[in-house]
Amino acid sequence: MLHIEVLEFLITSKMKQIELAENIYYVGVNDRHTERFENHIALPDGVSYNSYLIMDEHITLIDPVGANFMEEYLQNIKSVIGDRKVDYLVINHDEPDHSGALSAILREYPDITVVGNGKTFAPLEAFYGPIKKKHTVADGETLGLGAHRLQFFTVPMVHWPESMVSYEQSTGILFSNDAFGGFGTLNGTIFDDQANLVFYEDEMRRYYANIVGKVATQVLRAVEKLNGISIKTIAPSHGLVWRSNPAWVLDRYTKWSSYQSEKGLVIAYGSMYGNTGRMAEIIARGAADAGVKEIKIYDVSKTEVSFILSDIWKYKGVCLGACSHYGNMYPDMTLLTHEIAHFQPKNKCFALFGGMSWSGGGLRTLTQIAEENAWTLVGESVEVKGAPIREEDIDRLYNLGKTLAEAM
Ligand code: FEO
Repeated sequence: MLHIEVLEFLITSKMKQIELAENIYYVGVNDRHTERFENHIALPDGVSYNSYLIMDEHITLIDPVGANFMEEYLQNIKSVIGDRKVDYLVINHDEPDHSGALSAILREYPDITVVGNGKTFAPLEAFYGPIKKKHTVADGETLGLGAHRLQFFTVPMVHWPESMVSYEQSTGILFSNDAFGGFGTLNGTIFDDQANLVFYEDEMRRYYANIVGKVATQVLRAVEKLNGISIKTIAPSHGLVWRSNPAWVLDRYTKWSSYQSEKGLVIAYGSMYGNTGRMAEIIARGAADAGVKEIKIYDVSKTEVSFILSDIWKYKGVCLGACSHYGNMYPDMTLLTHEIAHFQPKNKCFALFGGMSWSGGGLRTLTQIAEENAWTLVGESVEVKGAPIREEDIDRLYNLGKTLAEAM
Protein backbone atom coordinates (compact mmCIF):
# COMPACT_ATOMS: atom_id res chain seq x y z
CA MET A 1 0.00 0.00 0.00
CA LEU A 2 1.38 3.44 -0.87
CA HIS A 3 2.27 5.86 1.91
CA ILE A 4 -0.43 8.40 0.91
CA GLU A 5 -3.04 5.64 0.76
CA VAL A 6 -2.22 4.61 4.30
CA LEU A 7 -2.75 8.20 5.42
CA GLU A 8 -6.07 8.47 3.57
CA PHE A 9 -7.23 5.19 5.08
CA LEU A 10 -6.32 6.37 8.57
CA ILE A 11 -8.04 9.72 8.08
CA THR A 12 -11.27 8.18 6.84
CA SER A 13 -11.21 5.47 9.55
CA LYS A 14 -12.18 8.10 12.19
CA MET A 15 -10.23 7.90 15.42
CA LYS A 16 -12.13 8.09 18.66
CA GLN A 17 -12.20 11.79 19.40
CA ILE A 18 -11.02 13.05 22.79
CA GLU A 19 -13.03 16.03 24.05
CA LEU A 20 -11.86 18.42 26.78
CA ALA A 21 -15.10 20.35 26.43
CA GLU A 22 -17.72 20.72 23.75
CA ASN A 23 -15.85 21.43 20.50
CA ILE A 24 -12.40 21.38 22.13
CA TYR A 25 -10.34 18.29 21.33
CA TYR A 26 -7.06 16.65 22.24
CA VAL A 27 -5.09 15.94 19.04
CA GLY A 28 -1.62 15.24 20.48
CA VAL A 29 0.71 12.27 20.09
CA ASN A 30 2.87 9.97 22.23
CA ASP A 31 6.60 9.64 21.68
CA ARG A 32 7.75 6.17 22.72
CA HIS A 33 10.90 6.18 20.58
CA THR A 34 13.06 9.16 21.58
CA GLU A 35 15.56 7.95 24.15
CA ARG A 36 16.51 11.34 25.57
CA PHE A 37 14.46 14.52 25.80
CA GLU A 38 16.49 17.40 24.33
CA ASN A 39 18.94 14.56 23.59
CA HIS A 40 19.88 14.78 27.26
CA ILE A 41 17.21 13.62 29.74
CA ALA A 42 16.28 9.93 29.82
CA LEU A 43 12.76 8.98 28.72
CA PRO A 44 12.23 5.40 29.93
CA ASP A 45 8.46 5.95 29.83
CA GLY A 46 8.39 8.31 26.85
CA VAL A 47 6.72 11.68 26.64
CA SER A 48 3.60 13.12 25.04
CA TYR A 49 3.40 16.18 22.82
CA ASN A 50 -0.07 17.53 23.46
CA SER A 51 -1.93 19.62 20.94
CA TYR A 52 -5.48 20.90 21.07
CA LEU A 53 -8.05 21.85 18.48
CA ILE A 54 -10.97 24.25 18.88
CA MET A 55 -13.85 23.76 16.44
CA ASP A 56 -15.51 27.10 15.85
CA GLU A 57 -16.17 29.69 13.19
CA HIS A 58 -12.37 29.97 13.08
CA ILE A 59 -10.84 26.52 13.56
CA THR A 60 -7.84 26.87 15.82
CA LEU A 61 -4.91 24.62 16.74
CA ILE A 62 -3.06 25.22 19.99
CA ASP A 63 0.61 24.26 19.61
CA PRO A 64 1.74 21.61 17.12
CA VAL A 65 3.89 18.57 17.96
CA GLY A 66 7.41 17.34 17.19
CA ALA A 67 8.54 16.97 13.58
CA ASN A 68 8.53 13.16 13.60
CA PHE A 69 4.81 12.76 14.14
CA MET A 70 3.31 14.67 11.25
CA GLU A 71 1.37 11.80 9.74
CA GLU A 72 -0.27 10.78 13.00
CA TYR A 73 -0.85 14.41 13.94
CA LEU A 74 -2.59 15.22 10.65
CA GLN A 75 -4.74 12.14 11.09
CA ASN A 76 -5.77 13.35 14.55
CA ILE A 77 -6.66 16.80 13.20
CA LYS A 78 -8.55 15.49 10.21
CA SER A 79 -10.45 12.97 12.29
CA VAL A 80 -12.08 16.03 13.90
CA ILE A 81 -12.33 18.57 11.07
CA GLY A 82 -12.35 16.37 7.96
CA ASP A 83 -11.64 18.45 4.87
CA ARG A 84 -12.17 21.82 6.57
CA LYS A 85 -9.15 24.06 6.90
CA VAL A 86 -7.45 25.26 10.06
CA ASP A 87 -7.62 29.06 10.38
CA TYR A 88 -5.33 29.81 13.33
CA LEU A 89 -2.29 28.08 14.80
CA VAL A 90 -1.37 29.40 18.25
CA ILE A 91 2.34 29.04 19.09
CA ASN A 92 2.69 29.29 22.83
CA HIS A 93 6.35 28.24 22.71
CA ASP A 94 8.92 28.00 19.91
CA GLU A 95 10.92 24.98 21.09
CA PRO A 96 11.05 22.30 18.38
CA ASP A 97 9.43 19.56 20.52
CA HIS A 98 6.25 21.59 19.88
CA SER A 99 6.96 23.69 16.82
CA GLY A 100 8.68 20.91 14.84
CA ALA A 101 5.54 20.17 12.83
CA LEU A 102 5.07 23.83 11.87
CA SER A 103 6.45 23.49 8.33
CA ALA A 104 4.17 20.56 7.60
CA ILE A 105 1.15 22.43 8.99
CA LEU A 106 1.99 25.45 6.80
CA ARG A 107 2.19 23.15 3.77
CA GLU A 108 -1.12 21.45 4.60
CA TYR A 109 -2.94 24.69 5.45
CA PRO A 110 -1.14 27.43 3.45
CA ASP A 111 -3.67 30.13 4.40
CA ILE A 112 -3.35 29.53 8.13
CA THR A 113 -2.54 32.50 10.39
CA VAL A 114 0.11 31.84 13.02
CA VAL A 115 -0.59 33.53 16.35
CA GLY A 116 2.24 34.48 18.71
CA ASN A 117 3.49 37.33 20.87
CA GLY A 118 6.14 39.95 20.16
CA LYS A 119 8.96 37.53 20.93
CA THR A 120 7.56 34.52 19.09
CA PHE A 121 8.29 35.12 15.44
CA ALA A 122 11.99 35.99 15.23
CA PRO A 123 13.13 32.64 16.70
CA LEU A 124 10.35 30.75 14.92
CA GLU A 125 11.37 32.10 11.51
CA ALA A 126 15.02 31.44 12.37
CA PHE A 127 14.06 27.77 12.74
CA TYR A 128 11.57 27.39 9.87
CA GLY A 129 11.93 30.33 7.47
CA PRO A 130 9.46 33.11 6.65
CA ILE A 131 5.84 32.75 7.78
CA LYS A 132 3.31 34.27 5.42
CA LYS A 133 0.45 35.20 7.77
CA LYS A 134 1.25 36.25 11.32
CA HIS A 135 -0.87 37.73 14.07
CA THR A 136 0.95 39.23 17.05
CA VAL A 137 -0.85 39.46 20.38
CA ALA A 138 0.07 41.50 23.46
CA ASP A 139 0.05 40.24 27.04
CA GLY A 140 -3.59 39.94 28.13
CA GLU A 141 -4.99 40.48 24.61
CA THR A 142 -7.85 38.30 23.37
CA LEU A 143 -8.73 36.69 20.05
CA GLY A 144 -12.31 35.75 19.20
CA LEU A 145 -12.81 32.45 17.38
CA GLY A 146 -16.63 32.55 17.28
CA ALA A 147 -18.22 31.10 20.40
CA HIS A 148 -14.78 30.77 21.98
CA ARG A 149 -12.35 33.49 22.93
CA LEU A 150 -8.67 32.99 23.72
CA GLN A 151 -6.75 35.27 26.05
CA PHE A 152 -2.96 35.24 25.99
CA PHE A 153 -0.60 35.67 28.92
CA THR A 154 3.15 35.87 28.52
CA VAL A 155 5.12 33.70 30.96
CA PRO A 156 8.74 34.60 30.12
CA MET A 157 11.31 31.82 30.68
CA VAL A 158 8.71 29.11 31.32
CA HIS A 159 10.52 27.77 29.51
CA TRP A 160 11.95 30.19 26.90
CA PRO A 161 11.77 34.01 26.72
CA GLU A 162 8.84 33.98 24.28
CA SER A 163 6.70 31.46 26.23
CA MET A 164 3.06 32.26 26.77
CA VAL A 165 -0.13 30.46 27.77
CA SER A 166 -3.58 30.67 26.19
CA TYR A 167 -6.77 30.77 28.23
CA GLU A 168 -10.12 29.90 26.70
CA GLN A 169 -12.59 32.13 28.50
CA SER A 170 -15.89 30.30 27.96
CA THR A 171 -14.63 26.95 29.32
CA GLY A 172 -11.87 28.05 31.71
CA ILE A 173 -9.30 25.85 29.96
CA LEU A 174 -5.71 27.02 30.31
CA PHE A 175 -3.45 25.79 27.50
CA SER A 176 -0.26 26.08 29.49
CA ASN A 177 2.38 24.59 27.17
CA ASP A 178 5.52 23.56 29.17
CA ALA A 179 4.15 24.90 32.45
CA PHE A 180 2.53 22.10 34.50
CA GLY A 181 3.85 19.50 32.05
CA GLY A 182 5.48 16.19 32.82
CA PHE A 183 7.28 13.25 31.25
CA GLY A 184 5.58 9.93 30.55
CA THR A 185 3.33 9.02 27.64
CA LEU A 186 -0.44 9.10 27.99
CA ASN A 187 -1.31 5.42 27.93
CA GLY A 188 -4.98 5.78 27.12
CA THR A 189 -5.36 7.95 30.18
CA ILE A 190 -5.52 11.55 29.04
CA PHE A 191 -7.06 13.12 32.15
CA ASP A 192 -5.93 13.29 35.78
CA ASP A 193 -9.00 11.45 37.07
CA GLN A 194 -8.10 8.44 34.90
CA ALA A 195 -4.46 8.16 35.90
CA ASN A 196 -2.08 6.81 38.52
CA LEU A 197 -0.99 10.12 40.01
CA VAL A 198 1.97 8.62 41.90
CA PHE A 199 3.70 7.89 38.59
CA TYR A 200 2.75 11.22 37.03
CA GLU A 201 3.75 13.25 40.10
CA ASP A 202 7.24 11.74 39.96
CA GLU A 203 7.47 12.38 36.23
CA MET A 204 6.15 15.93 36.67
CA ARG A 205 8.72 16.71 39.32
CA ARG A 206 11.51 15.19 37.20
CA TYR A 207 10.34 17.39 34.33
CA TYR A 208 10.14 20.42 36.62
CA ALA A 209 13.56 19.89 38.23
CA ASN A 210 15.33 19.35 34.91
CA ILE A 211 13.49 21.79 32.63
CA VAL A 212 12.07 24.79 34.47
CA GLY A 213 13.50 24.50 38.00
CA LYS A 214 16.36 26.74 36.90
CA VAL A 215 13.85 29.61 36.53
CA ALA A 216 11.76 28.83 39.62
CA THR A 217 11.25 32.52 40.40
CA GLN A 218 9.72 33.14 36.98
CA VAL A 219 7.59 30.01 37.40
CA LEU A 220 6.26 31.35 40.70
CA ARG A 221 5.61 34.72 39.04
CA ALA A 222 3.67 32.94 36.27
CA VAL A 223 1.60 30.99 38.80
CA GLU A 224 0.79 34.22 40.65
CA LYS A 225 -0.11 35.95 37.39
CA LEU A 226 -2.60 33.17 36.60
CA ASN A 227 -4.18 33.40 40.06
CA GLY A 228 -6.44 36.12 38.73
CA ILE A 229 -8.26 33.89 36.25
CA SER A 230 -10.71 31.08 36.95
CA ILE A 231 -8.96 27.92 35.76
CA LYS A 232 -11.21 24.88 35.41
CA THR A 233 -8.84 22.73 33.37
CA ILE A 234 -5.09 22.85 32.85
CA ALA A 235 -4.09 21.45 29.47
CA PRO A 236 -0.28 21.41 29.19
CA SER A 237 1.77 20.37 26.18
CA HIS A 238 3.30 17.37 27.96
CA GLY A 239 1.57 14.89 30.26
CA LEU A 240 -1.87 14.72 31.80
CA VAL A 241 -4.74 17.13 31.26
CA TRP A 242 -5.88 18.32 34.70
CA ARG A 243 -9.65 18.61 34.48
CA SER A 244 -10.73 17.27 37.89
CA ASN A 245 -8.30 18.90 40.25
CA PRO A 246 -6.16 21.63 38.66
CA ALA A 247 -5.41 22.92 42.17
CA TRP A 248 -3.39 19.72 42.75
CA VAL A 249 -0.90 20.66 40.07
CA LEU A 250 -0.89 24.37 40.94
CA ASP A 251 -0.07 23.47 44.56
CA ARG A 252 2.85 21.32 43.53
CA TYR A 253 4.27 23.93 41.20
CA THR A 254 4.01 26.51 43.97
CA LYS A 255 5.77 24.15 46.40
CA TRP A 256 8.60 23.26 44.03
CA SER A 257 9.08 26.85 42.87
CA SER A 258 9.33 28.11 46.44
CA TYR A 259 11.90 25.40 47.27
CA GLN A 260 9.83 23.59 49.89
CA SER A 261 11.46 20.24 50.69
CA GLU A 262 10.26 17.06 52.39
CA LYS A 263 12.22 15.40 55.17
CA GLY A 264 14.37 12.89 53.39
CA LEU A 265 17.91 12.26 52.24
CA VAL A 266 19.52 11.69 48.86
CA ILE A 267 22.95 10.09 48.98
CA ALA A 268 24.63 10.07 45.58
CA TYR A 269 28.08 8.62 45.18
CA GLY A 270 30.67 7.63 42.62
CA SER A 271 32.82 4.62 43.44
CA MET A 272 35.33 2.65 41.38
CA TYR A 273 35.73 -0.44 43.58
CA GLY A 274 32.75 -0.07 45.91
CA ASN A 275 34.47 1.45 48.93
CA THR A 276 32.85 4.89 48.56
CA GLY A 277 29.58 3.01 48.09
CA ARG A 278 30.17 1.27 51.44
CA MET A 279 30.66 4.71 52.98
CA ALA A 280 27.24 5.75 51.64
CA GLU A 281 25.64 2.73 53.34
CA ILE A 282 27.10 3.69 56.73
CA ILE A 283 25.93 7.32 56.39
CA ALA A 284 22.45 6.03 55.55
CA ARG A 285 22.44 3.87 58.70
CA GLY A 286 23.26 6.91 60.81
CA ALA A 287 20.47 8.94 59.20
CA ALA A 288 17.96 6.09 59.54
CA ASP A 289 18.81 5.54 63.23
CA ALA A 290 18.22 9.26 63.73
CA GLY A 291 14.71 8.95 62.29
CA VAL A 292 14.93 9.66 58.56
CA LYS A 293 12.51 7.32 56.79
CA GLU A 294 12.98 8.49 53.21
CA ILE A 295 16.53 7.73 52.12
CA LYS A 296 17.55 7.31 48.47
CA ILE A 297 21.00 6.02 47.62
CA TYR A 298 22.20 6.46 44.03
CA ASP A 299 25.32 5.21 42.29
CA VAL A 300 25.85 8.03 39.78
CA SER A 301 27.27 5.62 37.24
CA LYS A 302 24.00 3.65 37.23
CA THR A 303 21.17 6.16 37.63
CA GLU A 304 20.68 8.84 35.00
CA VAL A 305 21.20 12.29 36.49
CA SER A 306 17.66 13.64 35.90
CA PHE A 307 16.22 11.12 38.39
CA ILE A 308 18.75 12.11 41.05
CA LEU A 309 18.15 15.84 40.52
CA SER A 310 14.40 15.24 40.81
CA ASP A 311 14.83 13.61 44.22
CA ILE A 312 17.25 16.32 45.30
CA TRP A 313 14.48 18.82 44.52
CA LYS A 314 12.10 16.77 46.64
CA TYR A 315 14.18 16.12 49.76
CA LYS A 316 15.94 18.36 52.25
CA GLY A 317 19.18 16.42 52.69
CA VAL A 318 21.80 15.96 49.96
CA CYS A 319 24.91 13.92 50.65
CA LEU A 320 27.48 13.65 47.86
CA GLY A 321 30.46 11.33 47.82
CA ALA A 322 33.18 10.58 45.31
CA CYS A 323 36.30 8.53 45.20
CA SER A 324 39.41 10.12 43.76
CA HIS A 325 40.45 9.82 40.16
CA TYR A 326 43.89 11.14 39.20
CA GLY A 327 43.78 13.82 41.88
CA ASN A 328 40.27 14.88 40.94
CA MET A 329 36.86 13.34 41.63
CA TYR A 330 35.30 10.31 40.01
CA PRO A 331 34.26 11.59 36.53
CA ASP A 332 30.61 10.47 36.54
CA MET A 333 29.97 12.74 39.53
CA THR A 334 30.82 15.77 37.39
CA LEU A 335 27.49 15.91 35.56
CA LEU A 336 25.49 15.71 38.80
CA THR A 337 27.44 18.49 40.52
CA HIS A 338 27.18 20.55 37.33
CA GLU A 339 23.41 20.11 37.27
CA ILE A 340 23.02 20.98 40.97
CA ALA A 341 25.17 24.09 40.49
CA HIS A 342 23.23 25.01 37.36
CA PHE A 343 19.68 24.45 38.64
CA GLN A 344 20.45 25.69 42.18
CA PRO A 345 17.91 23.89 44.35
CA LYS A 346 17.71 25.99 47.52
CA ASN A 347 17.11 25.38 51.25
CA LYS A 348 19.13 22.16 51.26
CA CYS A 349 21.42 20.59 53.85
CA PHE A 350 24.49 19.32 52.01
CA ALA A 351 27.12 16.92 53.33
CA LEU A 352 30.21 15.55 51.61
CA PHE A 353 32.39 12.47 51.78
CA GLY A 354 35.08 10.88 49.69
CA GLY A 355 37.43 7.96 49.28
CA MET A 356 41.15 8.43 48.75
CA SER A 357 43.69 6.07 47.28
CA TRP A 358 47.04 7.84 47.49
CA SER A 359 46.62 11.63 47.29
CA GLY A 360 42.82 12.05 47.36
CA GLY A 361 40.91 14.40 45.08
CA GLY A 362 37.28 13.28 45.36
CA LEU A 363 36.40 15.15 48.52
CA ARG A 364 38.76 18.01 47.66
CA THR A 365 36.94 18.66 44.37
CA LEU A 366 33.50 18.31 45.96
CA THR A 367 34.49 20.78 48.69
CA GLN A 368 35.72 23.25 46.11
CA ILE A 369 32.42 23.00 44.18
CA ALA A 370 30.45 23.43 47.43
CA GLU A 371 32.41 26.58 48.28
CA GLU A 372 32.04 28.02 44.80
CA ASN A 373 28.27 27.53 44.94
CA ALA A 374 27.81 28.51 48.60
CA TRP A 375 26.13 25.22 49.51
CA THR A 376 25.19 25.01 53.18
CA LEU A 377 27.36 22.17 54.51
CA VAL A 378 26.29 20.16 57.52
CA GLY A 379 28.63 18.18 59.79
CA GLU A 380 32.27 17.40 59.17
CA SER A 381 33.08 16.08 55.72
CA VAL A 382 34.58 12.60 55.85
CA GLU A 383 37.45 11.27 53.78
CA VAL A 384 38.49 7.64 54.14
CA LYS A 385 41.73 6.10 52.99
CA GLY A 386 41.06 2.76 51.33
CA ALA A 387 37.97 0.99 52.67
CA PRO A 388 35.73 2.05 55.59
CA ILE A 389 36.92 -0.74 57.89
CA ARG A 390 38.44 1.20 60.80
CA GLU A 391 36.15 1.95 63.73
CA GLU A 392 37.08 5.62 63.73
CA ASP A 393 36.10 6.00 60.06
CA ILE A 394 32.87 4.08 60.55
CA ASP A 395 31.96 6.35 63.48
CA ARG A 396 32.67 9.50 61.49
CA LEU A 397 30.48 8.32 58.61
CA TYR A 398 27.67 7.17 60.90
CA ASN A 399 27.76 10.47 62.77
CA LEU A 400 27.64 12.42 59.51
CA GLY A 401 24.35 10.64 58.73
CA LYS A 402 23.04 11.46 62.21
CA THR A 403 24.09 15.11 61.96
CA LEU A 404 22.38 15.42 58.60
CA ALA A 405 19.20 13.93 60.05
CA GLU A 406 19.23 16.36 62.96
CA ALA A 407 19.79 19.33 60.63
CA MET A 408 16.72 18.56 58.46
FE1 FEO B 1 8.28 21.24 25.70
FE2 FEO B 1 10.39 23.95 26.24
O1 FEO B 1 9.52 22.59 25.25
